[in-house]
Amino acid sequence: MYRILSKKILNETVQLMEIEAPYIARRCEPGQFVILRVDENGERIPLTIADYDRERKTVTIIYQIVGYSTKKLSQKEAGDTIQDIAGPLGKPSELKKHKRVLGIGGGVGAAPLYPQIKKLSEMGVNVDVILGGRTKEYVILEDKFREICQNVYIATDDGSRGHRGLVTDVLTKLIEEGKEYDEVIAIGPLVMMKAVCAITREYHIPTSVSLNPIMIDGTGMCGGCRVTVGGKIKFACVDGPDFDGHLVDFEECMRRQRMYKEEEHVCLIGLEG
Ligand SMILES: Cc1cc2nc3c(=O)[nH]c(=O)nc-3n(C[C@H](O)[C@H](O)[C@H](O)COP(=O)(O)OP(=O)(O)OC[C@H]3O[C@@H](n4cnc5c(N)ncnc54)[C@H](O)[C@@H]3O)c2cc1C
Ligand code: FES
Repeated sequence: MYRILSKKILNETVQLMEIEAPYIARRCEPGQFVILRVDENGERIPLTIADYDRERKTVTIIYQIVGYSTKKLSQKEAGDTIQDIAGPLGKPSELKKHKRVLGIGGGVGAAPLYPQIKKLSEMGVNVDVILGGRTKEYVILEDKFREICQNVYIATDDGSRGHRGLVTDVLTKLIEEGKEYDEVIAIGPLVMMKAVCAITREYHIPTSVSLNPIMIDGTGMCGGCRVTVGGKIKFACVDGPDFDGHLVDFEECMRRQRMYKEEEHVCLIGLEG
């Protein structure tokens, strides 16, 4: 059992939890994730380690309430426990000592982006980020990014904060203004990562993405998380979740992510009674 030390509501669908998990906190690196089961009958769901504190022996998760398990998780409070947390899983991100890197976080994608950008900043790399959200309420972690980034650009669909439009509009504008980036790290919905990669490919900017296929064991034993990268089959839980975005077959990822739509819907109806 793992104790929830604190819980924060970031917006109406996104919450943060700091959890006591000494083993994971001691070993985890940016880019890695955990698989948790909320209670003893729960399914296993993957969530990125959004932050960690080795001294306090804690890991932070930030999750969007999208279905059965994330809703059940959201019903837990500080002081409650979570049944199982396995990790750290996946390969740590390969962060290079570039001159300047641009991070792009779409919605809750800002959470998995944060530990990578924080580490780059600690390595002395100049980092800028673009954060996107439907409205200003959906832009998360802006203050945390401002502490470590040179520039933080915001894009919202309705223009309630920053640029009115998509993160890709801001990306194109920055490149056209002559900003030079050695690498782009994009994390968010698959459509967003695909659109970012289409632009950075044109401008020959290496781009890393973090894939979030359906996972079960998270340890390389089932292939449920398989993705095609550069024409080769990879298991995101052990070969990733970070991959070269210019080589990812995004269409296949999107098809596979929709595989259990009906069952997921039925489960959620069951929970809501
Ligand atoms: C490596 C990795 C890191 C992730 N990190 C985060 C994170 O930091 N924050 C966050 O909010 N979300 C993250 N996700 C997505 C998160 O796992 C899903 O939102 C969650 O599993 C949904 O479960 P549910 O029962 O609430 O929703 P469901 O109703 O079951 O599903 C809703 C949608 O979530 C996706 N999904 C469902 N089951 C899984 C599964 N087992 N694995 C992956 N995706 C699934 C599908 O796209 C589905 O359509 C990550 C996924 C992966 C693979
Ligand atoms: S989740 Fe089973 S191999 Fe990756």
